[in-house]
Amino acid sequence: MNASAYAASLETLVAFCKRRGFVYPAADIYGGLNGVYDFGPMGVLLKRNLRNAWLQSLKNNLGPIVEFEGSLLGPQAVWKASGHVDGFHDPMVDCKSCKKRFRADEFDLTAGCPACGKNDWTDIRSFNMMFKTQVGALEDGSSIAYLRPETAQAIFVNFKNVLSTCRVKVPFGIAQIGKAFRNEITPKQFLFRMREFEQMEIEFFCKPEDADATFAFWVQHRLNFYKQIGIDTAKIRTHPHGKEELAHYSTACSDVEYQFPFGWKELEGIAHRGSFDLTQHTTHSGKDLAVYDEETKTSFMPVVIESSVGLDRLFLTTLFDAYYQDIVDGEERVVLKLHPRLAPIKAAFMSLSKKLSDNLLPLYQHFEDKGMSVTLDESGSIGKRYRRQDEIGTPFCITYDFESLEDHCVTVRHRDTTKQERIAIDKLDAYLEQRLK
Ligand code: GAP
Repeated sequence: MNASAYAASLETLVAFCKRRGFVYPAADIYGGLNGVYDFGPMGVLLKRNLRNAWLQSLKNNLGPIVEFEGSLLGPQAVWKASGHVDGFHDPMVDCKSCKKRFRADEFDLTAGCPACGKNDWTDIRSFNMMFKTQVGALEDGSSIAYLRPETAQAIFVNFKNVLSTCRVKVPFGIAQIGKAFRNEITPKQFLFRMREFEQMEIEFFCKPEDADATFAFWVQHRLNFYKQIGIDTAKIRTHPHGKEELAHYSTACSDVEYQFPFGWKELEGIAHRGSFDLTQHTTHSGKDLAVYDEETKTSFMPVVIESSVGLDRLFLTTLFDAYYQDIVDGEERVVLKLHPRLAPIKAAFMSLSKKLSDNLLPLYQHFEDKGMSVTLDESGSIGKRYRRQDEIGTPFCITYDFESLEDHCVTVRHRDTTKQERIAIDKLDAYLEQRLK
């Protein structure tokens, strides 16, 4: 095999995702909706595996982490207190000539409009990125609500609820996976910057004196996560923020960046949020969110260390990282070298001839009943079936042939090396289990 790494362009990946049932433009038959996407059967499985891998990585030796699911709609008061109503803005500018709209901080305006080349701009205005809506029939100030632009605030607002009902004490964390919405001025690069996306966030609450060590721990812990799910470590780096880059709520921040084809970009943010959020919500709600320390007999406001990664952005990262094109038996193939944990389908079961289908079926069903994500691939030549599975990242193809009737073995073919080996059917359970860990 003549293998060569292949950096897929964004266009290649977008087409691939549609062709193989990973991602479609939202409302495709109506022309789509800018910055919004639907996920097909393969995409759903990959997303689920990413969520599961992330949930498994929550285990740490600093303190327990409990899960939480907040509402998507929040009253204006929450977003006033968090600073989003007044501060969640991007600078916006329009080209007077071609009427295209841009984020003014993304390029040098004096170089002219990226679309038409003219240098005729409107003034730069502030644009709030939250989706605002009205709850109920009355259109007064009290009915204003927002779709959440991050999942974190619902965690802060519920901090005392969780603390008093879940037998946890500081240090501990609250984790949440869920949708977030931002009316981005220029959604772009496919799943990189969307208007509706999913976040996986951990808010870890600690004592102020432990904050720096906790922050350092989480940066390392999160880097380990990317290694564990098989992301090429040469394409991952951290970017500690300078003072001028820090968000309004952060005392310190370090981004995990990935080397996308369009440059090194933020994949995840790890932020030392100080006690900003709990203090803000205490002030605005009038409910004291400080914690009483039994040891020192004093109250303190916990410090929050946050890890926040976009699930869709991670999805895009794993696809760029796993997408290869190589030559097998003189033929070009596309192969997704996903970590087996992430592969949407773990094993494809094939019979060499239709006459053997009845022999294969119980074997396939055995793995399906066990809850393994498997498929039966019975049409086309074996070579074609292998290519089909390579493209969606299936690590193992298992073929039942005429010899199987005699030796009770099947051929297991490996996605990355294309090597094949004979494995006894009664050893297949243990064989796959060990390799899919
Ligand atoms: N609670 C902190 C927070 O929301 P952020 O840096 O604005 O911080 C965290 O977002 C992560 O969410 C980013 O690192 C990125 O992975 C993802 N994200 C943010 N905006 C996104 C967008 N428009 N589309 C896709 N993912 C996005």
